[in-house]
Amino acid sequence: MMEEIKTLRINGVLLSAPATSTILDAALENGLSIPTLCRFAGLQPVGACRLCLVEIMGRNRLQPACTTLVEEGMVIQTDTPRLQKYRRMIIELLLSEGNHDCGRCEADGTCELQSLADRLGADKTRFGPLRFRSGKDTTHEHFLADRSLCVLCTRCVRVCGSVEKAHTLNVASRGAASFITADLGSPWGSSRTCTSCGKCVRACPTGALMERPRTSGATKKNKSASR
Ligand code: SF4
Ligand code: SF4
Ligand code: FES
Repeated sequence: MMEEIKTLRINGVLLSAPATSTILDAALENGLSIPTLCRFAGLQPVGACRLCLVEIMGRNRLQPACTTLVEEGMVIQTDTPRLQKYRRMIIELLLSEGNHDCGRCEADGTCELQSLADRLGADKTRFGPLRFRSGKDTTHEHFLADRSLCVLCTRCVRVCGSVEKAHTLNVASRGAASFITADLGSPWGSSRTCTSCGKCVRACPTGALMERPRTSGATKKNKSASR
């Protein structure tokens, strides 16, 4: 069967994409970049971080590019002053909810939150420290978890469940009090389901999940995994 193709305009560029494409996929296929944080290649998009919101002509509400399918004749803007302001605010809130001292963090230089903050010109101090999440889990033989650096993107939960199929990681609690936990509340090191595959660490965009140092070296994050 022939694939149905839609024609649309993103930032003035006329392009076509399969009807099954999201706006984000269509943009990326055509060399147009939209900031994302919860999206991870190969995982089902969840539209959680709201960084990829775009303006669609004729719709009052901003729509997440990662979960909205293309439609015939759509006219989309991805980088207006309104969107830039909104994205900056999201990053500033995420920075305030955690304990992000980049210069002292092992993920310095590889952290996606840090690079988004730089790219979007986010003021790290605008909201002051809100500090919703704290606590470390150092019980795993190979990995370390620091809740204060978690942005609740759920990339680790999704890769653990749908790719590794271990279903070890979950989100506990609700709203601002949410945090990532193993086996519904056990210390990660005593998990009966974790295979120690490390996929969650490689999927994590910040320093919230890291590999333990093997020798005397620092904790490290292998960012070579595809994304
Ligand atoms: S190491 Fe693998 S199995 Fe263990 S929590 Fe991470 S993704 Fe899940
Ligand atoms: S631990 Fe990392 S991957 Fe998991 S939700 Fe937090 S920031 Fe996202
Ligand atoms: S990347 Fe679309 S909502 Fe997070």
